[in-house]
Amino acid sequence: MPESLSFQEELAARLRFYRDLGIYDLYRREGQSSAGAVAANNEEFVLTEQSIPMPTRAEAPDHSPALQMIREDIGDCTRCVLHKQGRKQIVFGTGNPEADIMFIGEAPGADEDEQGVPFVGRAGQLLNNMITAMGIRREDVYIANIIKCRPPGNRTPERDECETCSPFLMRQIETIKPKIIVALGAVAAKTLLGVNDAMANLRGRIYDFRNTKLAVTYHPAYLLRDPRQKKEAWKDLQMVMKHLGMPLPNKD
Ligand code: URA
Repeated sequence: MPESLSFQEELAARLRFYRDLGIYDLYRREGQSSAGAVAANNEEFVLTEQSIPMPTRAEAPDHSPALQMIREDIGDCTRCVLHKQGRKQIVFGTGNPEADIMFIGEAPGADEDEQGVPFVGRAGQLLNNMITAMGIRREDVYIANIIKCRPPGNRTPERDECETCSPFLMRQIETIKPKIIVALGAVAAKTLLGVNDAMANLRGRIYDFRNTKLAVTYHPAYLLRDPRQKKEAWKDLQMVMKHLGMPLPNKD
């Protein structure tokens, strides 16, 4: 995206984001706080026009020395085959090192491999909108993946690749100490929970995970393919919000 957008371009981009999320109706509600700027009905995410932040274009640099140390320990990693299968760079993770919520996806795709930042492609735009719908900003949370290198052709990561990369993700979790982790999609959920079950069974509850909690929801890329499931994902996010005591949008 260009550095500065005209008002019209910004508005068009914002509307595209909402359409991606399944939001077609925008309306203004009087006298709401910024958290209340998000309203939902049972079917879709519904957002008001007020004070909805655009997703960030440039990621803030990571100033956490503990996270930097983990990054340095990873180095120019050659621990699994992915280093010789076309990955351009390691995609470490991004966001607030003291985040309450940590989102964990599967693996970098082409855009992430190019930019070195997780969830910056189309799925990332949808994830940004999901985060915005929760009344928070992308820079308030921490975002990482199960593995840090792009698998060729975006194939599913192999078990040994996940196992090799996992210790670094676990150190990130121990450093950030999120109050809750949101596993995005089956690979993240199954790898973190160490179970092999269908997404439909894994969703809908909060697990104890190490010294924190974990919830499972659909991967944004899956939601792009099957937008009807967005209302289910929104239920998962509301469960997370409730767990954290975040204000839930009013039902109309
Ligand atoms: N999908 C993921 O699982 N992670 C990313 O960073 C991007 C797309």
